[in-house]
Amino acid sequence: MEPDKSKIIVCRCEEITLADIEQAIAQGARTLAAVKVRTNAGMGVCQGMTCRRNIERMLQGLEPEDSAPHSPYRFPVRTVSVNDLSADLDKEDCP
Ligand code: FES
Repeated sequence: MEPDKSKIIVCRCEEITLADIEQAIAQGARTLAAVKVRTNAGMGVCQGMTCRRNIERMLQGLEPEDSAPHSPYRFPVRTVSVNDLSADLDKEDCP
């Protein structure tokens, strides 16, 4: 019995399943960036640190969609409140 691919999570942050990734590939995604655009995989809190390698493995051996260079690496983003930002401004000497 084959496992249910719609229940296998590849990207935990965005809850993207193996079925979602395979569907994106079937629709023509051949790069990590193309899979990101179609599924949001790799765009969660960890920015692909957890799921990127598995998606890249799924893309290995496929014909390239395009040869445009891209960087799948992004630094994690954190929200900053306006109060925290303005606190730093209050410390500066304003003329
Ligand atoms: S597991 Fe995919 S972005 Fe975090």
